[in-house]
Amino acid sequence: MKKTIAQGAESIISLDKNIIKERIRKSYRFPELDNKIRKQTTRRETKILEKAYNLIPTPKLISSKDTTIEMEYINGKLIKNILDSSKNKTQLCKQIGNQISLLHKHNIIHGDLTTSNMILKDDKVYFIDYGLSFISHKTEDRAVDLHLLKQALKAKHYKHPNLFTLILKSYNNKEVIERLKKVEQRGRYKQKRIKKN
Ligand SMILES: Nc1ncnc2c1ncn2[C@@H]1O[C@H](COP(=O)(O)OP(=O)(O)O)[C@@H](O)[C@H]1O
Ligand SMILES: [Mg+2]
Repeated sequence: MKKTIAQGAESIISLDKNIIKERIRKSYRFPELDNKIRKQTTRRETKILEKAYNLIPTPKLISSKDTTIEMEYINGKLIKNILDSSKNKTQLCKQIGNQISLLHKHNIIHGDLTTSNMILKDDKVYFIDYGLSFISHKTEDRAVDLHLLKQALKAKHYKHPNLFTLILKSYNNKEVIERLKKVEQRGRYKQKRIKKN
């Protein structure tokens, strides 16, 4: 029997034998435009899901049509819920860093790297939710992808402030790490100005 297991702003996730991800309507958009956008974004997510599947642990695509993607159910634990108490933080972070490297090497920017979009199963960290992913050759986009992960870790796993450093140890693109520093400086500058105003 199909049952809903998660609902976000963009999609409803239900579980039958497989996961079914359905992009939901946005009532503030004209219906024709809304349909077109949801189909387009579903197509993009499908393509990237398939590409990522050949690189790193990712749910296997079963089928995709219009605004719906059916994919393999990863019956594991969300990294968000297990990371803080895990004895294998170093090992998990190493895997996460390696996998981000691989995606980036193949020009996939995940776009939503958080520990809610990672599932541990059989000692492998599956990356899910390619809903905001895109293809890019830019160093800047890679650096921002890492920056968002750093922010997400800071918010959810503040008890363990070294997680991001551990992840970066196995991220192998020096140019991107250099750019990340600039992205962060820019962020701080912006915040200072906001405070002053
Ligand atoms: N393939 C999958 N296997 C297991 N759980 C999944 C899978 N896809 C999604 N989920 C669960 O549903 C939640 C929301 O899915 P996600 O693709 O991240 O959608 P959203 O864009 O709404 O964040 C995830 O955090 C996870 O708990
Ligand atoms: Mg998600």
